Amino acid sequence: MNFRGLLKPSAKYSILALLSIGIAVGVVGYFVTQQTLHATSTDDFCMTCHSNHSLKDEVLASAHGGGRSGVVVQCQDCHLPHNPVEYLVKKIIVSKDLIGYMTIDGFNTQEWLDANRKEQADLALEYFRANDSANCQHCHSRIYEDQPETMKKMAQRMHARNFEKAPEDRKTCVDCHKGVAHPYPKG
Ligand code: HEC
Ligand code: HEC
Ligand code: HEC
Ligand code: HEC
Repeated sequence: MNFRGLLKPSAKYSILALLSIGIAVGVVGYFVTQQTLHATSTDDFCMTCHSNHSLKDEVLASAHGGGRSGVVVQCQDCHLPHNPVEYLVKKIIVSKDLIGYMTIDGFNTQEWLDANRKEQADLALEYFRANDSANCQHCHSRIYEDQPETMKKMAQRMHARNFEKAPEDRKTCVDCHKGVAHPYPKG
């Protein structure tokens, strides 16, 4: 079959051929994307650029590092959305980090993180505020309705009082809980 034949819509085999090529490309593309997204969502991936930062050790030392209940919360559980569309959008924002990685002097040093912690923390908090701490709520699903008996009375009261307010007046998780994985800088 020649190239011209392929493009001619009246030739029924060429349309079939195009269709099957299209489907094959689509299927392969789907799996390549899934694999790439999966690979880019591991702690190892995050730590390729943040390798000299204390972030991972901080998570391990926190309540989210598995001390009490044996659960180690991964970077992406907190920092990337679960919704596939938002996930892709956020991925593109994370890709912007590539430019930062190449242009910010001394980025991958502990000194840089220490010096810029406050600013970076506030950037990170913007994401949590923008989606009402959806990542936190994904795991902590019984904070407001159906609170567990075992939750401290003080916590139950604080949560219930927040939930009574109109949705636009409510605080979001990270307004009250800063530094749940990394030390939040004072001042
Ligand atoms: C290509 C290198 C690179 C990779 C990979 C990378 N980061 Fe970053 N990250 C950076 C740079 C550079 C900054 C600081 C500059 C900036 O704000 O863009 C940063 C800043 C951050 C911040 C604070 C600023 C903000 O906007 O929230 C968070 C949180 C963060 N990274 C989390 C992650 C997580 C989670 C992963 C893994 C999914 C990851 N990073 C993978 C380079 C990277
Ligand atoms: C992947 C699931 C997961 C995500 C995401 C998650 N957590 Fe947790 N969180 C846990 C587990 C597991 C514990 C430990 C519970 C235990 O030991 O009883 C915990 C503990 C806590 C505690 C108690 C800390 C302490 O010192 O006892 C607070 C507060 C908390 N999380 C807030 C948050 C906030 C805020 C976010 C979002 C920024 C968040 N969590 C995201 C699973 C998660
Ligand atoms: C109005 C402030 C406020 C908001 C908003 C808030 N909390 Fe709390 N939370 C508290 C206080 C105060 C405590 C009790 C002190 C402590 O343990 O840190 C608490 C305790 C907790 C605990 C520990 C409970 C225990 O018995 O050990 C977890 C887990 C928690 N909060 C998660 C969340 C999550 C997830 C959200 C968002 C859905 C959230 N909180 C929203 C104030 C708040
Ligand atoms: C339990 C949820 C949680 C986990 C797990 C988590 N983070 Fe964070 N991260 C946060 C929150 C919330 C902030 C905003 C500042 C704060 O409250 O400490 C933050 C802030 C940051 C910042 C900005 C600088 C700073 O220290 O505040 C970077 C960079 C970052 N995280 C990277 C990572 C990387 C890399 C991992 C995995 C090794 C990770 N985070 C795991 C919740 C988490």
